[in-house]
Amino acid sequence: MLGRLNHVALAVPDLAAAVATYRNTLGADVTEPQALPEHGVTVVFVNVGNTKIELLEPLGEGSPIAAFLAKNPSGGMHHLCYEVDDILAARDWLKAAGARVLGDGNPKTGAHGKPVLFLHPKDFFGTLIELEQS
Ligand code: CO
Repeated sequence: MLGRLNHVALAVPDLAAAVATYRNTLGADVTEPQALPEHGVTVVFVNVGNTKIELLEPLGEGSPIAAFLAKNPSGGMHHLCYEVDDILAARDWLKAAGARVLGDGNPKTGAHGKPVLFLHPKDFFGTLIELEQS
């Protein structure tokens, strides 16, 4: 079921500062910021060849990363995103296996315009998992 690692996401308190660090200090290729109001974040992607790093900053009230940043004020690793061929089949498989799918269980459109779902971190060794239809 599980495909390639699409990205590793870091929550950051200041996206402009994080972009400057990745661009200027690490010399990385970074995309322009993209606001995703449905997900409560603004996102940029750092292209690193074999995968991407997603930098996330809270957007609006009640951002799902606000509590994470309150606990990790300087930022930290927030989730891993794996690709799946068929997100509905993957969801049904995981639910049957006892994993908890976050939200109402229906995929939302993610940062790449493809359907995504999130899985409860307590079911996966403390790591929030995003699934993205490939
Ligand atoms: Co992500």
